[in-house]
Amino acid sequence: MLAILGGEPANTRGFPSWPTYGAAERRGLMRVLRSRVWGTLGPETKRFESEFPAYLGSAHCQTIANGTVALETILRALDIGPGDEVIIPAYTFVATATAVIIVGATPVFADLDPRSNTLDPADTERKITSKTRAIMPVHIAGIPADMDEFQRIASERGVALIEDAAQAHGSEWRGTKVGTLGVAGSFSFQLSKNMSAGEGGAIVTDDEDLADRIWSIHHIGRRKEGLWYGHYELSSNYRMTDWQAAVLRPQLSRLDRQIAARERSFDQLNAALHAMDGITVFERDERATSITHHLYMVRVEPEALGVRSKETVVRALEAEGVPASAGYVEIQKQPLFTDATVKRVLPDSAFESVSLPATEQACRETIWLPQNVLLGDSRAIQGVIRAFEKVMSHRDELRESEQR
Ligand SMILES: Cc1ncc(COP(=O)(O)O)c(C=O)c1O
Repeated sequence: MLAILGGEPANTRGFPSWPTYGAAERRGLMRVLRSRVWGTLGPETKRFESEFPAYLGSAHCQTIANGTVALETILRALDIGPGDEVIIPAYTFVATATAVIIVGATPVFADLDPRSNTLDPADTERKITSKTRAIMPVHIAGIPADMDEFQRIASERGVALIEDAAQAHGSEWRGTKVGTLGVAGSFSFQLSKNMSAGEGGAIVTDDEDLADRIWSIHHIGRRKEGLWYGHYELSSNYRMTDWQAAVLRPQLSRLDRQIAARERSFDQLNAALHAMDGITVFERDERATSITHHLYMVRVEPEALGVRSKETVVRALEAEGVPASAGYVEIQKQPLFTDATVKRVLPDSAFESVSLPATEQACRETIWLPQNVLLGDSRAIQGVIRAFEKVMSHRDELRESEQR
């Protein structure tokens, strides 16, 4: 593609394809094929359900169909339902909110901490009511939310702390892996995630009773000690397959190396971009001792650049050879929140009128580079930096590109 801003694209180097795989995945898939245990409860799943919590430092792990039903399952296992409130951010994937509604509870949106685009503890605390049963911070892009504050709030206010760690495999808060800092943590293995099986998810917890309940809910209401055809509560089939576990195990063994590579690229990008006028980088909170960087988030200010929207910058970056995306719109403004089914479950809701200034700003300004860009070598990252420099220094051309 010809650069929108004229000349050759600033970056001509490619980035590694995502997801990565190798001989270990091939061997694992062949093991499953030969075992004929293709469904759940197979040997690869059993191994993964001990290796993943061992890596995270958690006592129990339940694999599950995806990160969406993982959240629903945690909420149901905690008996959260109609009449209950769960505080969540509005800058996240829609599943964080729909999981709450699907179990019949009400999502209450709190604003963001603009330094990290994660849930703001102060606004979370302001939004706690007698109906609040849980708070659910999301470690967006792999950046840990302020878990010191969320642990304090959860224990002082007697509410459950659930971590949506769908984007944060391997991120750490003060040396402890996220997902293990609350009552339960949820992970996704969807295609774009830092560990991928195409689809898939996992729940981790240290609470044995909760783990049993989670097992039961994900398994059509069976009980571990019950009859195979005994179903003890209303539930559905949320099981993951052995194929997925076979693909996830080698990815777990590669995760730390990939995190180290993404951390290097993050530092290189932040060091260069923080000095550019019109850009704000997300500085590292020193308490985040490891960040997996599911995405590289950065803020561009349309007003300062004189453009109508950040999409203009995204298009220009892509034309310069840098994959980029505009990311989320505020969840509560999604059409689904006015749909009849939601109105039936939550007739008094008025999500669209919730005011979240920091979230609105994040949606106006934050753009993303996907994680495979961060797996590029330092020359490829230099190409990304050149692309940002070019876009930021061609403001007239950038504005003109909006007219085309
Ligand atoms: C923050 C967040 N929560 C939940 C999910 C849901 O995960 P899945 O796509 O596996 O259902 C995702 C994945 O897209 C996510 O990014």
